[in-house]
Amino acid sequence: QAPKNLIGKTVVVTAGPTREKIDPVRFISNHSTGKMGYALAEEAKKQGAHVVLVSGPVELPAPAGLDVVKVESAEEMYNAVLKYYDSADVVIKTAAVADYRPKITYDHKVKKQAGDSSIELERTKDILLELGKRKRNQVLVGFAAETENVEEYAKKKLTAKNADMIVANNVKAEGAGFGTDTNIVTLFKRSGSVLDLPLMSKSEVAKRIIGEITFLLKDMDEN
Ligand code: PMT
Repeated sequence: QAPKNLIGKTVVVTAGPTREKIDPVRFISNHSTGKMGYALAEEAKKQGAHVVLVSGPVELPAPAGLDVVKVESAEEMYNAVLKYYDSADVVIKTAAVADYRPKITYDHKVKKQAGDSSIELERTKDILLELGKRKRNQVLVGFAAETENVEEYAKKKLTAKNADMIVANNVKAEGAGFGTDTNIVTLFKRSGSVLDLPLMSKSEVAKRIIGEITFLLKDMDEN
């Protein structure tokens, strides 16, 4: 029986990749399957929260009993998350959001031509950064998918994005990151505390993350 620590709380979880359209048949994306984000959404639900799951395109079935908002692009994810932000107590940004999108999106299939080709890219909006700026009394949790200098980059994100916790995973480590049923994460909290977790299933990781979020919510209620 899961503890019911999130009764009365609204938790927004983002999951999966985004797709940035090139033309009607092509897009830029990444390897996120949504497993980590869906596990977090399920755990928050089990603990009694009202859960809004903002999901990019994934193969996973929509979990029962929570509000699922399906989006494709980083822009759509930005709009969906911002819509629920003011009513959220907790936001967990597990989604692998594209940092760049094609500057031009064609409404017809681009035909191949002789020689090389290139696509000009422009930055998408940084959702986590915007949430950090607008934060009032939400607990804001970001992820960091790194392949090197994990601790340094995670700590930088913690302050640059005004987050309360960053969940860092070295996506090059065996059993961690994209697509697997397991993960290896380190939790970096604003207080300076660091918690290194060993390899465990994504649902077990989700339990530990939600556990830490419960402490952060308690701290906030007491202050
Ligand atoms: O979905 P799975 O297959 O289970 O894989 C899980 C995972 C590897 C995707 C997950 O554990 C993970 O690491 N998610 C974050 C992936 C990511 O995009 O990391 P990042 O370091 O590029 O981004 C840092 C943070 O900024 C993330 O919280 C991200 O949601 C957020 N971000 C990034 C870009 C952007 N434009 N807006 C954002 O809010």
